[in-house]
Amino acid sequence: MRVDVLTLFPPMFDALNHSIPAKAAKAGVFDLRVHNLRDFPLNRYGAVDDYPYGGEPGMVLHAQPLEQSLEHALDGRADVPVLYPHPHGKPLTQADVRHWAQAPEIVLVCGHYKGIDERFRYLHVTHEFSVGDYVLSGGEMASIVFLDAVARLLPGVLGDEGSARTDSFEEPLLGWPVYTRPELWNGLKVPEALLSGNHDRIRKWKRKQQMLWTMERRPDLWASHELTKEDRKLLEDESLR
Ligand code: ADE
Repeated sequence: MRVDVLTLFPPMFDALNHSIPAKAAKAGVFDLRVHNLRDFPLNRYGAVDDYPYGGEPGMVLHAQPLEQSLEHALDGRADVPVLYPHPHGKPLTQADVRHWAQAPEIVLVCGHYKGIDERFRYLHVTHEFSVGDYVLSGGEMASIVFLDAVARLLPGVLGDEGSARTDSFEEPLLGWPVYTRPELWNGLKVPEALLSGNHDRIRKWKRKQQMLWTMERRPDLWASHELTKEDRKLLEDESLR
């Protein structure tokens, strides 16, 4: 997957030179190219932003440097989705992340300060997403969040292919609590079912914990979960703690 990022702050994307995204790059499935909007200034004073018409506080990125930087990044390629992270966008879900992990190429446009000139957005942006109902100082952090979530789904990136499939949000329920050695720590024991060696019991324990966590933490998700017959039984099963 090729990703071109347009930003005023290229070094922020060094965050993706670690952990899973770095592994994806090394495996050759994640090709990140970061472009500095300051390389395409509007005038000889290096301007890339200006005060908004109408007189509010803050700065707006000029359309022209954005367009020139986009043309440079696309280098003649057509039909490449252009994504703009913005708090007004559609809240990003794991289903969206799965969708974008299938895309061969995308561009991410990072706004800053007050945002980008509406005319550039109108002409060039094809998709918008938000990473939550709060305001970040720019699109960089949101793009990094997005790219981390996407990179880990690229083929061959996660060592254990199963580990993405068992993530919270890969299905409508949250995950379950996890434990590692020792069995007893600070007076707290690892749940008996996990030590039982009985695969069916372990599966049932995990399923029950998923339901309990979802019920407790995300009543909105729980409300749309349809209980199977086995789910009902597991919820009543006092031995599965
Ligand atoms: N830019 C600023 N805030 C944002 C948010 N919440 N999501 C995506 N992009 C943003």
